[in-house]
Amino acid sequence: MSRKKIIAGNWKMNKTPSEAVELVKTLAPLVQNPEVDVVYCVPAIDIVPVAEAIKGSGVKLGAENMYCEDKGAYTGEISAAMLKDAGVQYVILGHSERREYFGETNADINKKMKQAIRNGLTPIMCCGETLEQREQGITIDFVRQQIKVGYQDITAEDAAKTVIAYEPIWAIGTGKTATSEQAQEVCAAVRQCIREIYGDAVAEEIRVQYGGSVNGGNAAELFGMPDIDGGLVGGASLKEDFGKIVNYKG
Ligand code: PGA
Repeated sequence: MSRKKIIAGNWKMNKTPSEAVELVKTLAPLVQNPEVDVVYCVPAIDIVPVAEAIKGSGVKLGAENMYCEDKGAYTGEISAAMLKDAGVQYVILGHSERREYFGETNADINKKMKQAIRNGLTPIMCCGETLEQREQGITIDFVRQQIKVGYQDITAEDAAKTVIAYEPIWAIGTGKTATSEQAQEVCAAVRQCIREIYGDAVAEEIRVQYGGSVNGGNAAELFGMPDIDGGLVGGASLKEDFGKIVNYKG
């Protein structure tokens, strides 16, 4: 089975609403590749204007986070239903920055995963180790634990449609990309973990991205690896380089 590649930009806390529309316009002629699913994951306040700006382009819309409850007294939070109603299809969950700065745990991320799925959103669930964990040789055990808890009580049918982004923390925003062999090794382990939980069919269908200093120069090699089905791209998604990433085959 050949999986369609998925390349998502993670804009993080960048771009005001008007800057966001400008960026979409700048990228529009560059970001065109029908062989790939392209997603812009944007700050919450940019969702509505970006939804309008990408109309007709084929680019899909994603959020960077959401809350796990339906609605109510959760000041400052955004619900899955709000995202869905605004035209969002994907939501990044459990990014390492949210785990580190906002204390999100695997159990929190599992709640959000279930809430996203219940509301018809596709989670992009992030996992990945610190440099210290890599040096201790516990990368795969650590990532497997993130996946096992993240996918608790999620059915095979639902899991198959989700996306997992393997992002080694030491490679995020550092310009220090994992080698394609390092990225492949862990992405294959991620798929193997899914195989153990759900079986072969789900393991073959689920898409596993690599993230961490992906750019126009390294995308082709990374995305050419057998278990890497695209990328989650931070810094380079805010530049024209994103067009090169989307057209990584050149
Ligand atoms: P980066 O970020 O591409 O800037 O390393 C990736 C991410 O955090 O998703």
